Amino acid sequence: MKTPVTVLGLGAMGTALARTFLVAGHPTTVWNRTPGRSPELDDLGVTRAKTVGDAIAASPLIVACLLDDASVRSTLQPVASELARRTLVNLTNGTPEQARRAADWAAQHGAQYLDGGIMAVPAMIGGPAAFILYSGSPEAIAQYQDDLAVLGKPTYVGSDAGLAALQDLALLSAMYGMFGGAAHALAMISSEKISPTAFTADLLVPWLTAMIGSASGIANDLEYGAAPGAAASNLAMQAAAFVNFIDASEAQGVDPMVLLPIRTLLDRAVAEGHGDEDMAVLVRLLAKN
Ligand SMILES: NC(=O)c1ccc[n+]([C@@H]2O[C@H](COP(=O)([O-])OP(=O)(O)OC[C@H]3O[C@@H](n4cnc5c(N)ncnc54)[C@H](OP(=O)(O)O)[C@@H]3O)[C@@H](O)[C@H]2O)c1
Repeated sequence: MKTPVTVLGLGAMGTALARTFLVAGHPTTVWNRTPGRSPELDDLGVTRAKTVGDAIAASPLIVACLLDDASVRSTLQPVASELARRTLVNLTNGTPEQARRAADWAAQHGAQYLDGGIMAVPAMIGGPAAFILYSGSPEAIAQYQDDLAVLGKPTYVGSDAGLAALQDLALLSAMYGMFGGAAHALAMISSEKISPTAFTADLLVPWLTAMIGSASGIANDLEYGAAPGAAASNLAMQAAAFVNFIDASEAQGVDPMVLLPIRTLLDRAVAEGHGDEDMAVLVRLLAKN
């Protein structure tokens, strides 16, 4: 028999997790604060627990996917003693500090703990592009890696429970930077009679796809150092061009708020004497703060 699993939380993501466990043949028990959510799971044979305590008692592997850290704490605190000898996998978005606190709390109650960062949207769960970052108990990942793999590729990043959250939030930060830039680009072209869908398909997506590969060059310079004067796109040139993005946006009636912090950073890099260097300098300036 496949490992029985309990899923706490039937929001969009928890429902996708429960559905995927059910389809993969895991006896799956669910609990949600508001009863009766996601009725489609009933046809797949889900067991609905009336209480959180019943849900935890049903399985050795407990997956929590609630809104935030506060909702996980308020849900689990009253049933802490039920967690002994079980494994809690917390896939709720949170900070490294919250993850480390949860790991300590789980250990105090005799539970193995894994913190996870889901790098997927619900529709991707169980598909080839989904991956999930895990950190925490090495014994837990060794024991349940195959079960967790049905959700998305498990990527274990270390026994420090905070490391999955740190890398999850770093990746999401990069994504929001990209989407913020895309929103600004669409606002610019919407100021004229240009089709947003055609612009996105023909220009925006190919451009971003081509450019994202250069992040490896930034990382390389950061780790190993860049050859002096080797920048193909030096920061002084970039700062000079950046003024045009802002001026053109304002002239088209577009708020440049997404761009302004990047301009500040570029100007600072140039003012501090890094005009002939490349983007890795920006990482150093940010990390210093
Ligand atoms: N959706 C995504 O694309 C995505 C991707 C990666 C990671 N995540 C992460 O996955 C987690 C869940 O996301 P989601 O999309 O499923 O969110 P959601 O659809 O908004 O669902 C939120 C879930 O949390 C429950 N909840 C909220 N407050 C609660 C409380 N105080 N006590 C107990 N339960 C509470 C809700 O229960 P009720 O039904 O009773 O309101 C519901 O089950 C979040 O941490 C999110 O950041 C989501």
